[in-house]
Amino acid sequence: MIRRHEGEPLSPTPEFNLPRIDGDFEGKHIVSLEQFDINSLDYLFYQVPTMKEIALDRQESHLLKGDIVTHVFYEPSTRTRVSFQASVEQLGGRAIIVENPQAFSSVSKGESFEDTIRTLAAYCDAIVLRHPEEGFAKKAAEVVNGIIPIINAGDGVGEHPSQALLDLFTVSEHAGKLNGLTGVMAGDIKNGRTVHSLMRGLALYPGNTVYLLSPNQLRLNPKDLEDMKRKGLSIIEIDNPDDMPINADFWYWTRVQKERFENEEEYNAVNNRFIADQALLDKKGGPNTILMHPLPRVGEIPYEVDKDPRAVYLRSQVRNGMYVRMALIGLVLGRIK
Ligand code: NCD
Repeated sequence: MIRRHEGEPLSPTPEFNLPRIDGDFEGKHIVSLEQFDINSLDYLFYQVPTMKEIALDRQESHLLKGDIVTHVFYEPSTRTRVSFQASVEQLGGRAIIVENPQAFSSVSKGESFEDTIRTLAAYCDAIVLRHPEEGFAKKAAEVVNGIIPIINAGDGVGEHPSQALLDLFTVSEHAGKLNGLTGVMAGDIKNGRTVHSLMRGLALYPGNTVYLLSPNQLRLNPKDLEDMKRKGLSIIEIDNPDDMPINADFWYWTRVQKERFENEEEYNAVNNRFIADQALLDKKGGPNTILMHPLPRVGEIPYEVDKDPRAVYLRSQVRNGMYVRMALIGLVLGRIK
């Protein structure tokens, strides 16, 4: 990949558009599932078994030798941050972590987001960014366009593309396909960025149906709902677990996103309305239904469900997070061809 650290960035244009992946990840920002098509997903997923082998066999990989990836997290994270860091290290690269820049960097002195990102970009080959405001990953991409790629690790209630990639991979591993599926997504459909990205991914494939189980207040915003339907995803909104289909291919449970609420009262009014407990799994799940969750969970899946083999959130789903991110980062840095 060409390094342009000392060159000028391409001047930002008012109509900055995210690049489409079109089967070529090198140097591209990864901000939204909108950038993807089926071939690009196939190409990414094709790399994953090799990544898995590197990790499981403890191979000493030099794929990212000399590469530095900076992880800038304005919001808390466990899995996303650590699995990205582990991915870089598994492939022989180096990871810098900038956690909570509001408190510990010049952001606390009043430095702008743009200047912070431009500066960090001068010291590394890619930035993985999490930010509480929707649209800020795109903004960062615009600011450093032509210098280094930005990977969106969650922008407020917007998107969380790398999570959706690992989720899609996990579904395909279990169902053997990504088309003609029936799924249930439950919890905070309105604010859940993982849900927003995953739905965009599912909409790329023909014949998928998702049941969105949420309280009225947490439904998908009407614009996205229309958009997904227009793309061909069948959506059925429900607010009662009795209306869930029997034997769906996957359940995707999520936490109500407390940090997006104005006050505790509003949060308490909708929190944990739907619990994926053993009784529900036995009643509505089939032998091949998988129960997923991006985690963290805060009560919506009781711990006793973990021993059910259909509960994949702390098994394949969480591990795939590292394998899929290894492939993603290797492709974006142009080290996997
Ligand atoms: C999710 C997130 O941050 O959006 N966590 C994750 O990255 N796996 C889900 C959540 O916080 O509820």
